[in-house]
Amino acid sequence: MIPTPDLSHLTYKDYDHVYEPAEDTFILLDALEQDADELKELKPTICLEIGSGSGCVSTFITQILDTRTVYLCTDINPYAAQCTFRTGKQNNKILDPIRAYLALPLMNRLKYQVDVLLFNPPYVPTITDELEAAQAGKSIEGAWAGGTDGMELTNKFLQCVEHLLSPKGRFYLVALKANRIDSIRQRMKDGYGLESKISLERRAGREYLYILCFYRPT
Ligand SMILES: C[S@@+](CC[C@H](N)C(=O)[O-])C[C@H]1O[C@@H](n2cnc3c(N)ncnc32)[C@H](O)[C@@H]1O
Repeated sequence: MIPTPDLSHLTYKDYDHVYEPAEDTFILLDALEQDADELKELKPTICLEIGSGSGCVSTFITQILDTRTVYLCTDINPYAAQCTFRTGKQNNKILDPIRAYLALPLMNRLKYQVDVLLFNPPYVPTITDELEAAQAGKSIEGAWAGGTDGMELTNKFLQCVEHLLSPKGRFYLVALKANRIDSIRQRMKDGYGLESKISLERRAGREYLYILCFYRPT
């Protein structure tokens, strides 16, 4: 069993500003652990996590993959970028967090380069104004406010996935049942030719969570 990263350096004061790992985080860790052998076989050069928050997920995947992999992380929230770096350090791992909107500053350089792409997005359905205020504030509200169907920010990122994925790349996405899983999968197939599978699904309190994995057809 791959251990959950040590987060003992983060306090409730940090969690006033940055998303505290929760069920959605842990189902993503479980999906990555389940696919650990396949992920190792990919021999990834670049792993990119969007919205890394505390850094728990990126630190976890360093425990699966090679030390030669580069672990890039983005977050719109500057406090999250700091916490991501600190969590890597606490666990003797090197993470390279960047304060950025989705993968915007990396789009040209990382075209078809990302072998493992991860996103646990803000997926809670809210009104668009709430999403926009949260994004503008770059604060903890940005961790959950997802706009219409909880999909407004995710939909923006889905448009970038095919451009970023390497030929052998995989994209893991956390989603809620309310995000309309079949529609996400169909749109990625019709729009970008990406295949997908449901890696894991489980009820977590009031939420029903999915981990979707997208990849190019072989
Ligand atoms: C649900 S939290 C997930 C945090 C962490 N990855 C985890 O699984 O615990 C969503 C994260 O996305 C970040 N985020 C929200 N909008 C973003 C954007 N436009 N670009 C990059 N990150 C964003 C939030 O700040 C937050 O850290």
